[in-house]
Amino acid sequence: MEKIIVTGGIGYIGSHTVVEFQSAGFEVVIVDNLSNSDIKVLDGIKNITGKKPIFYKADVSDIHEIEEVFSKNKDAVAIVHFAAFKAVGESVQKPLMYYQNNIQGIINILSQMQKNGISNLVFSSSCTVYGQAKSLPVTEDSPILKAESPYGNTKKISEEIISDTLKSDDKLNVISLRYFNPIGAHHTAEIGELPIGIPNNLLPFLTQTAIGIREKLSVFGNDYNTHDGTAIRDYINVVDLAKAHVVSIQRLLEKKNLTNYEVFNIGTGKGTSVMEIVKTFEAVSGEKLNYQIAKRREGDIEQIWADTSKANEILGWKAQESLENTIKSAWEWEKRLAQRKVNK
Ligand code: NAD
Ligand code: WQD
Repeated sequence: MEKIIVTGGIGYIGSHTVVEFQSAGFEVVIVDNLSNSDIKVLDGIKNITGKKPIFYKADVSDIHEIEEVFSKNKDAVAIVHFAAFKAVGESVQKPLMYYQNNIQGIINILSQMQKNGISNLVFSSSCTVYGQAKSLPVTEDSPILKAESPYGNTKKISEEIISDTLKSDDKLNVISLRYFNPIGAHHTAEIGELPIGIPNNLLPFLTQTAIGIREKLSVFGNDYNTHDGTAIRDYINVVDLAKAHVVSIQRLLEKKNLTNYEVFNIGTGKGTSVMEIVKTFEAVSGEKLNYQIAKRREGDIEQIWADTSKANEILGWKAQESLENTIKSAWEWEKRLAQRKVNK
C-alpha cells in the first residue's frame, strides 16, 4: 500500500481528503497540531472507511517536530500539505503569526522532502491569489494580483517558494490546487466543517443561524453589479474537492506528460450569488432563514468563478455534486452536531 503524508488532515478539507485516499487504497499518515481541529474527527473518518489513519500531533512550522515525523515515514510516496491558518480577518490582526505558520510550514515541508527523497507534493492554494479578476471566469493564467490580506499573501508567496525551489531541484514534482469556495460535508454526516468560534464563511454561519446558534445571517451587500446585487462565488463540494487531490497524486505518481510544477483551478465553473445560496438552503431544508441585508464586508470582491477546463482535461476531474445536495449535506452535518450536543 502506498503511503501518503497528509498535513492538516484533521481539518475540514483534509479530513474529507483522507477518506478519499483511504477509499482509493492508500495508507494515510496525518500530521496535525490540532490548532484548528478536534481529534474526534479521527473517529468520524474511521466510521466511514473502517480504518483509523496513523496520527502524529506535530507542528509543521517546528522543524524538530516535523523532522521526527519524516524520519519515521521515509517510505511515503507523496505529501498533501493542508496545514495552515486560513482566517482572512485574523491574518490582518496577526500577520506575523500567519507568515510564521504558513510560510515556515511550506519551507519545512519542501526541505524535508529533499532531505528524505520524497518527490511528490500537492499544495493547498486558493482562488484568493486572483483577487478581483478583470475577466471572468479565471483561468490558471489569469494575473496574480497583490494580495488583499496577509493570509492571501501567504498563498501567493508559498506558490513562489515552490516554483523557485523546483527551478533548483529537478527531482521534485508539485501540483498546486487553487480551491474556490469549499462547502458541504460528507454524505454520511460523520465529518464536516467544525468552525471554532463565530464562523467567517457563509455556509457555516448560515447553517448555525438556521439551527439557532446565531440570531441572523447578514447578507453582505446587495448593491454589487451582479444579477441580484449580491456577491458571486464558485462554491465547490468538499468531497469533489477531496477527490481532486487523489487524481493529482495519481498524476504525480504516474508521471505521464508531467511537468514539474502544475497549477489547477478547482471549482465548479459556475458562479452563485449569496441570495441564491440562501434561497437554495430554504428550498432543500424546508426552513425559513432569518437574514438581513447588511453593508458590504470590507475586503470582499464582487464576483469570481473558475474556468476548470485545465483540471477537466489534464486531471480528468470535474465537480459532480449539485449545489442542492451540497447545501443539504451541510445542513445534515449541522443537525448532526446539534444532536451530539443534546446527547452529551
Ligand atoms: P482547517 O483549519 O479546517 O484545516 C487546517 C488544519 O491544519 C487544521 O486541522 C489545523 O489544526 C492544522 N494546522 C494548522 N497549522 C498547523 C501547523 N503549523 N502544524 C500542523 N497542523 C496545523 O482549514 P481547511 O478549510 O481544511 O483548509 C485547508 C487548507 O486549504 C489550508 O491551507 C487553507 O488555507 C486552504 N484553503 C482553504 C479554503 C477554505 O475556504 N476552507 C479555500 C482555499 C484554500
Ligand atoms: C462568501 C460570500 C460574503 C458570510 C474566503 C477567503 C478565500 C477562501 C475562501 C481560503 C461573500 C458572503 C459571508 C456572511 C455573507 N479561503 N457572506 N454573510 O470571502 O469568498 O472567501 O474563503 O483560501 O481566500 O477569503 O468566502 O464564505 O466568507 O463568503 O453575506 O455572514 O458570502 O460577502 O460574498 P470568501 P466566505
